[in-house]
Amino acid sequence: MKIVVTVGGSIIIKDGEPKKFKDYADVLKNINREHQVFIVVGGGRPARDYIGIARGLEASEAACDDIGIDVTRLNAKLLIMALGDNAYPAVASNFHEAVEYSVSNKIVVMGGTEPAHSTDAVGSILAEFVGADLMINATSVDGLYNKDPNKFADAKKFDEITPTEMMSILSSKENKAGTYEFFDMTAIQIIKRSNIKTLIVNGEDPKNLQKAIKGKIGTTIVPDSKL
Ligand code: UTP
Repeated sequence: MKIVVTVGGSIIIKDGEPKKFKDYADVLKNINREHQVFIVVGGGRPARDYIGIARGLEASEAACDDIGIDVTRLNAKLLIMALGDNAYPAVASNFHEAVEYSVSNKIVVMGGTEPAHSTDAVGSILAEFVGADLMINATSVDGLYNKDPNKFADAKKFDEITPTEMMSILSSKENKAGTYEFFDMTAIQIIKRSNIKTLIVNGEDPKNLQKAIKGKIGTTIVPDSKL
């Protein structure tokens, strides 16, 4: 299978330690024995810190996004280091490069691409571009909730959700650099138009990626016609 993984910076660089990169690298190497793997790495706290400084310097929203993209690419470089010979040795900066690098059969690593969306959108465009069979979104909670489960005890997790339902949940949220929530609108629109099979799983344990390939964990985004 062709698999696109998106991992939040809030997961992979959360502790500022090499361990999470190594843990991810071990799991990705295993998956890559049987599948073609593309992984898009997020910016996390360092991206938000840099964006905060840029905003303080009165940079435009696009310029703030651009700083965020640079940070995602730095995080992507760290993952390439952890993957060693198993990764193509450069960060793909666009979708054409990602396809070109995948000819090596090595793991292809990307960060952000253009302003005004998140790395989740990059993952879904990449999944569409390469015709991925599955996209897995590794995030900081174990699925998609109707509200923040860290703040609300009565938050309800969805086992399945359609793109249209996701859009109605996200329409009330902010859309500024550094603030894109799980799956911004761009990501959902792409998933909707191409029916990309997508799972949202807890990325704290990278082994959840293997579980996602084998079965159903977290939240599955199903086509609008299915629910
Ligand atoms: P992320 O997509 O990682 O957002 O990119 P995030 O909200 O920090 O997500 P986590 O915490 O990693 O899960 C960081 C910032 O970089 C810019 C956006 O401003 C985003 O908030 N960015 C990223 C882009 O503008 N375009 C991209 O393609 C990727």
